[in-house]
Amino acid sequence: MSLGSAVSFPAFAADKPLTMGFSQVGAESEWRTANTVSIKDAAKQAGVNLKFADAQQKQENQVKAIRSFIAQKVDVIAFSPVVESGWETVLREAKAAKIPVILTDRAVNVSDKSLYVTFIGSDFVEEGRRAGRWLLDKAKSMPAGDINIVELQGTVGSAPAIDRKAGFEEVIKSEPRLKIIRSQTGDFTRAKGKEVMEAFLKAEGKKINVLYAHNDDMAIGAIQAIEEAGLKPGKDITIISIDGVKGAFEAMMAGKLNVTVECSPLLGPQLMQIAKDIKAGKEVPKRITTEEGIFPAEVAAKEFPNRKY
Ligand code: AHR
Repeated sequence: MSLGSAVSFPAFAADKPLTMGFSQVGAESEWRTANTVSIKDAAKQAGVNLKFADAQQKQENQVKAIRSFIAQKVDVIAFSPVVESGWETVLREAKAAKIPVILTDRAVNVSDKSLYVTFIGSDFVEEGRRAGRWLLDKAKSMPAGDINIVELQGTVGSAPAIDRKAGFEEVIKSEPRLKIIRSQTGDFTRAKGKEVMEAFLKAEGKKINVLYAHNDDMAIGAIQAIEEAGLKPGKDITIISIDGVKGAFEAMMAGKLNVTVECSPLLGPQLMQIAKDIKAGKEVPKRITTEEGIFPAEVAAKEFPNRKY
């Protein structure tokens, strides 16, 4: 692959520590906290001088942070974009300043792919498919008739929300009994997951058979709402979520969550290596996909001691 475009990056003095500006989405979930720790620890380990900015889930804060990294003439900019669209202008500014940009975790939707060098992260569509395939299989042992699903979506306009919805729908459409009866954003947070689940329960009550949550935190918030409504999460309502954080494993071991699809936040070491490779003028792949699995409740207790986040 080429480094995209005709951009050539300034020669890098190997004896000087690399400076990276990193704009993080926020601290909305257990996943995100683990991702931040991974990046900060890996920077220390790799001797990278990290300038870290928390955008508090706001795109405008990320744009400001990127502009400030450009003004500070950092060697590399990395960021996890809160939403997919609206990045062309600021990324063009980085390109004009000859600062390579690495996307981590989430993608951007830009027509000019040379605006970033590489994207390291999960295949969110596949995660949605994995969740859908697990449900297709589970449906075989569920009582006859419609299986009513409520969906807690991630942040509106974010790559994981868009892709996890698409992957899941692509798979479940092969089984007409599976019906999404409500779908709303819970912004990837426990508090919002609980609030939206309360509204779903109020509107649909015992009609709800399945909850598909785009992340574990929203599922954990929803579990509280389900219990407060006098129902048994994981039994009266089958719950599927994504991430594989320790909190999800604890919920599975307590019998309150049925399955979590893995999404690894441990991107720090790879990010630091790729940044060094880029500055050393090496060719790097345009897309680096994280390898992941799926953990049903049946394996939770055995897997829990191995979990790193
Ligand atoms: O982009 C990854 C997603 O963002 C994780 O699934 C979620 O927990 C986080 O907030």
